[in-house]
Amino acid sequence: MKKIAVIYGTRPEAIKMAPLIKALQSDPRFEAHVILTGQHREMLDQVNSIFGIIADSDLDISEAGQTLTSITTKVLEGLAGQLSEVNPDGVIVQGDTTSALAGALAAFYQQIPVFHLEAGLRSGNIYNPFPEEVNRKLISQLANLHFAPTEANKLALLRDGVADETIVVTGNTVIDALLHTAELPGDLDDPQLLGATRDEARQIILVTTHRRENWGEPLAHIAAAVAKISTGFPEARIVLPMHKNPAVRAILHEYLDGLDNVYLIEPLDYAQFAKMLNRAYLVLTDSGGVQEEAPSLGKPVLVLRETTERGEGVEAGNVTLVGTDTARIVAETTRLMRHPEHYAAMTAASNPYGDGTASVQCIGALWAYFERLTAKKKFDDS
Ligand code: UD1
Ligand code: UDP
Repeated sequence: MKKIAVIYGTRPEAIKMAPLIKALQSDPRFEAHVILTGQHREMLDQVNSIFGIIADSDLDISEAGQTLTSITTKVLEGLAGQLSEVNPDGVIVQGDTTSALAGALAAFYQQIPVFHLEAGLRSGNIYNPFPEEVNRKLISQLANLHFAPTEANKLALLRDGVADETIVVTGNTVIDALLHTAELPGDLDDPQLLGATRDEARQIILVTTHRRENWGEPLAHIAAAVAKISTGFPEARIVLPMHKNPAVRAILHEYLDGLDNVYLIEPLDYAQFAKMLNRAYLVLTDSGGVQEEAPSLGKPVLVLRETTERGEGVEAGNVTLVGTDTARIVAETTRLMRHPEHYAAMTAASNPYGDGTASVQCIGALWAYFERLTAKKKFDDS
């Protein structure tokens, strides 16, 4: 049996790790040891609770005003002791957060193999998204096995000099997670949403925003655009589950408080958010995960960023990069709201991120990795 430490700390990592943890737990060849960094708190706990995941340990590092340096140093220090104690056969990290980078580095320092879930995403700009583009490039240097969601991600890894035989194209576990929520009982019934969802005929514009490179002025431009859309389309409902970051919330409140058709609400639990996404007419977001979920639900997405590492959604036709300029966001939203033919062109459902079997494929590749290792050892010993 191989003991795998699964290390994560934020909401999107929790969502994308959950199907993999479940698959590891139900496979007799593996033992999963879940270590939370606690980079996020409420938003992390909310996801673990939806998926019924109980962590084996929790560094609980989260604090208001945390910095990239404080997160990195606390996670590295906390994991040093944890990994010595647990002594896993390998460590899985996901994506591109600071928890993921520090997790990979902490494992490398103890010469523990690193497996990277969602490998090979690249925007081509080291400051956008910041610091994620560099985090994922560094993790690629540290990882022994790379689970790439798409062929394009595999090509990006090859371009960075990663060995072909260490890359497996698996799809993205976010689709496994999304399909799992469809099986959960319950309707779209979060009490915060009742005013927005009561009238089935009303169009809902779903908005999320949190990116570090958007903090400050770009976020103010986004908020100003949402305010203009709210007054330009008074019959629509704008649902904006706010990230917990107080810096993000302050700007959203400043621009959007008091607008009747804007619902500035607490983060929705993942099951409710997935249902909200399904109900929404269109989506404005700077999130990575939401860009992946929307195409499989056939929802048009305007991405509030200058670059994307998720070109598959753009190619599929569901996603348009609009940046953070107020006028451009308002114009593109108006085009979708006013021109049915343009809207229809962005609603074909597609499946660029997999069919919901990514976690099973990852586990197959993980076992093959250990088998190769054993075979090599036997050969070396003979
Ligand atoms: C982090 C990741 C980003 C990811 C995002 C997902 C890094 C550098 N950034 O950014 O890649 O897209 O998570 O949401 O790893 N907070 C709470 N409760 C929570 C979560 C956050 O209060 O449950 C507040 C805290 O005040 C915290 C602040 O939000 O200091 C910022 O959190 P942090 O994890 O540093 O950055 P994110 O913007 O969430
Ligand atoms: N999400 C959620 N509740 C919300 C907003 C988002 O469960 O109120 C989910 C969403 O479905 C997606 C993930 O959170 O899977 C994205 O997280 P976030 O935008 O924080 O991070 P990113 O993907 O940009 O790293």
